[in-house]
Amino acid sequence: MQINQLLELNSNENSLGMADSARQAIINTLDIGFRYPDDQRAQLISKIASINSVAENQISLGDGSSENIRTVVQMLLNKALNTGKRFQVVVPHPTFAYAELYAVRLGVPVVKVPLMPENYDLDLQNLQKVADDFDGISLFYLCNPNNPTATIADTVALKNWVACSPENHYFLLDEAYAEYVTAPSFESGIEWVRQDLSNNLIVVRTFSKLCALAGMRLGYAIASPQTIASLEAFMSIDNTNLSGAVAALATLEDQEYLERSLRTTNQSRQMIEEVLDELELRYLPSQANFIFHEIKGEVATYIKKMRENNIVVGREFPPIEGFSRLTLGTADEMAVFIAVLKSFRRQGWI
Ligand SMILES: Cc1ncc(COP(=O)(O)O)c(C=O)c1O
Repeated sequence: MQINQLLELNSNENSLGMADSARQAIINTLDIGFRYPDDQRAQLISKIASINSVAENQISLGDGSSENIRTVVQMLLNKALNTGKRFQVVVPHPTFAYAELYAVRLGVPVVKVPLMPENYDLDLQNLQKVADDFDGISLFYLCNPNNPTATIADTVALKNWVACSPENHYFLLDEAYAEYVTAPSFESGIEWVRQDLSNNLIVVRTFSKLCALAGMRLGYAIASPQTIASLEAFMSIDNTNLSGAVAALATLEDQEYLERSLRTTNQSRQMIEEVLDELELRYLPSQANFIFHEIKGEVATYIKKMRENNIVVGREFPPIEGFSRLTLGTADEMAVFIAVLKSFRRQGWI
């Protein structure tokens, strides 16, 4: 059922909708909604641990990965306060804003390092320099693939950096979109946790994207047992919702759905890339369920005109100008978007 007529292509949700198996699992457990979901939570932790070949005490479940991000910032702030050290968060700019937002609310300074101007890659050298020049604890929040660019960091450079960092440098790798990555060079930070590359590495993942469970609010962090124990101290107690837990479990078991979900996004990406090529609009190589593309015009005006056509597209991402972030929805949704985009070209707006 269509709840509203707007085509929402702005939050990187998965408009394929949740798996039927997830829906059924929620319905099947409504009758036990009066009980605490301890068993289902334990089962989910066990499943995530086995899929990722880590121990159960290497998983921290979040109420969305946003909660995992918050606990990392809080845990390190607490560590800094207890040891009389300064603490800063270092982020690429632009990137997903939650680490910054939580840090600012907690009074933690945030240093933003612009993406490389030529290709919008993460500027690893300058990110590192900010921490090298700082006397205290630094947390790097690195979204890989990055949001809004949908591109990945250089794997070898990132891995070497994580492996060789001093003990007061921490890495929060946000891999919300990792399931979409096709680049053979990509290696997940989860592999580095398995290899025990660094005790200062935390990787976060979400059920909001490929699994289409954004409304169910489930994410998780993977790190060493010791780091997970310190993160859990700042996690809301009993944070997992029964419906979310059973929906996530069902989806992880549903290989057919997971493949269809990925295929749908890949097909939509191809449709969009073809039209962008045709219109000669530049785009970055998308490794996620969204694409960052040129519009040859003012982004605010473009967003407004799309909205007039009942399409919501991504917000502005200063300091980058002339690029819009588009969520890759279903093929039908992309067809609607493409028709509007082409009409914009005919009117000379893009
Ligand atoms: C990079 C990144 N991390 C985390 C999230 C939020 O995920 P969750 O729904 O698990 O809180 C998003 C949502 O768009 C995101 O883009």
